Amino acid sequence: EKGGYPHFMLKEIFEQPECITNCMRGRVNVNGDNVVLSAVIDYKQYLLNAKRFIIVACGTSWHAALIGKQMIEGFCRIPVEVEYASEFRYRNPVITKDDVVIAISQSGETADTLAAVKLARQHGAFIYGICNAIGSSIPRVTDTGSYIHVGPEIGVASTKAFTGQVTVLTMLALALAKEKETMSYECYRKIVKELHEIPGKMREVLKLNSWIADLSRTFTYARNFLYLGRGYSYPVALEGALKLKEISYIHAEGYPAAEMKHGPIALIDSDMPVVVIATHNGMYEKVLSNIQEVKARKGKVIALVTKGDDTISRIADEVIELPDTIECLEPLLATIPLQMLAYHIAVCKGKNVDQPRNLAKSVTVE
Ligand code: F6R
Repeated sequence: EKGGYPHFMLKEIFEQPECITNCMRGRVNVNGDNVVLSAVIDYKQYLLNAKRFIIVACGTSWHAALIGKQMIEGFCRIPVEVEYASEFRYRNPVITKDDVVIAISQSGETADTLAAVKLARQHGAFIYGICNAIGSSIPRVTDTGSYIHVGPEIGVASTKAFTGQVTVLTMLALALAKEKETMSYECYRKIVKELHEIPGKMREVLKLNSWIADLSRTFTYARNFLYLGRGYSYPVALEGALKLKEISYIHAEGYPAAEMKHGPIALIDSDMPVVVIATHNGMYEKVLSNIQEVKARKGKVIALVTKGDDTISRIADEVIELPDTIECLEPLLATIPLQMLAYHIAVCKGKNVDQPRNLAKSVTVE
């Protein structure tokens, strides 16, 4: 049932191009120039009149939410708050009828996310679910939603669900921006077209697997890892760090790259691998200078760069090249090598990748 792969996690990493195609099926049209989400058609008034969106989630789903926030704010000019469901539900938060609450959950069973939804409902908010498990508890208590349609995820570490969640959030932000007319048609077309090409580019990224497996052997010694990224890459850094800690039991932290000098830089020495997402976008120069700062302290840099970057390849210890895409879609590509890095380091260390200690696939108790 693992389809020839040694672990479900690797199988699910490799399924991502197909999963994202399934997620977009019937939503992004075949020409790649329009996005239709039935929930946006059916509940247009609620979504367009919302004064604020609040996204509630846990773990990896919370990282997807951070990416969704940037897109919904950027494309649609709607204020978005991202909350850990466990904090939100106990904080007596301000929730009104003018809020749309988006609950993101792969399993649809996470106790804290379900409780956050019920709380928001009591306060009259409109509830939108982004889930994977069809007919699970969260979709049953929402007003509407969009399934991510990536198929069952068996590995405890979430992989294809994350890229599915980010894809749905991208389609949601695009569909709303079109209705609200907050984005030029040209820009809309360009992003939809690029989104349509993501599965093909994911296939390119998957070709890095055997090389990342080799590279991973070099890093099993590490006791700590730092992951840095800015903008859309900051949640990717958080997600890369979470993957590494949960399956390889190496301590890892994700940080917005510019925060490094406000504390974490003190940790850097020759035993400290630093993974930097340094793709060619608006933050490139600034992230480049962070890499120089790490190198000046003898840290080991593993850089994710856009194919053809010859500046960072001269400075970094290891370089992982990604196909070019537009900034907001970079997480869909950049997350994959970080999933593979965590996977291979854990395998090299002989850990149980599909069932890490102390973790369950769905957290149905708080
Ligand atoms: C990490 C992971 C967890 C889940 C979290 C939320 O790899 O799998 O952090 O993302 O427990 O689960 P769902 O999305 O099912 O609500």
